[in-house]
Amino acid sequence: MDWGMKNRLNKIIKPDTGRTVMLAVDHGYFMGPTTGLEQLDKMVLPLLPYADTLMLTRGALRYYIPPETDVPIVLRVSGGTSILNENLLHEGIVASMEDAIRLNVAGVAFSILVGAEFERDTILAFTEIIDEAMTFGIPTIAVTAVGKDMVRDARYMSLASRMAAELGASIVKTYYVEGFEKVVDTCPVPIVIAGGKKQPEPDALEMAFNAIQAGAIGVDMGRNIFQSEDPVAMIQAVKAVVHQDFSPDEAYDLFKEKMGGE
Ligand code: 5RP
Repeated sequence: MDWGMKNRLNKIIKPDTGRTVMLAVDHGYFMGPTTGLEQLDKMVLPLLPYADTLMLTRGALRYYIPPETDVPIVLRVSGGTSILNENLLHEGIVASMEDAIRLNVAGVAFSILVGAEFERDTILAFTEIIDEAMTFGIPTIAVTAVGKDMVRDARYMSLASRMAAELGASIVKTYYVEGFEKVVDTCPVPIVIAGGKKQPEPDALEMAFNAIQAGAIGVDMGRNIFQSEDPVAMIQAVKAVVHQDFSPDEAYDLFKEKMGGE
């Protein structure tokens, strides 16, 4: 592996623990002004000291995040459909590698929809991105999106994750499901979990804990952080689970302790 690729991967996955807390705030690319991100900078800037990586769109990066910010960026480069479209997540390439380089990103993220009618489109576009990204030593994160009517189980997640890795992804982002060890054990590249819809804080912390114990190297979490009653306290609790193996109870105690500021 080339130096640039290794260096960028080490920016995303912290070398001291081999894990990562990626803060996902890319929702606007298909959901518009998502609850909590209406004024994206106001929400995100106080969270950045605790995030290992920030995942977002090029527009959000340019309009809301000051270039002085010292956080590795993972740029979402897929899109094309909105929540209003029944073919949600039938995505193609929406940002060039040239622009990703201009934005000095540590990685690029692309959603594939395995099992959907249009899976081929998303997979072929993803491999185009991989080829371009590899030319410049940029890691790719495959987001294994799941259609509304599709079953979320370990069998499906292993299929989608293994495919993403074999197609050339550097990291796979998938959803936590029961039997997650199978997903991790059959995927040759590191796995991070998405948070999914907002859950009560103890449940989200337990999900993160279970994923880490099953072998995930971290989270790429959005709504369960920025829609929390206290996002700054929540990201610290998630970070303790990911980097310090806090139990769900210990992490929830930390959340309560941090609520309302230091
Ligand atoms: C869609 C995505 C989202 O844009 C987002 O990153 C998910 O974050 P969360 O589910 O934790 O709110 O990846 O597939």
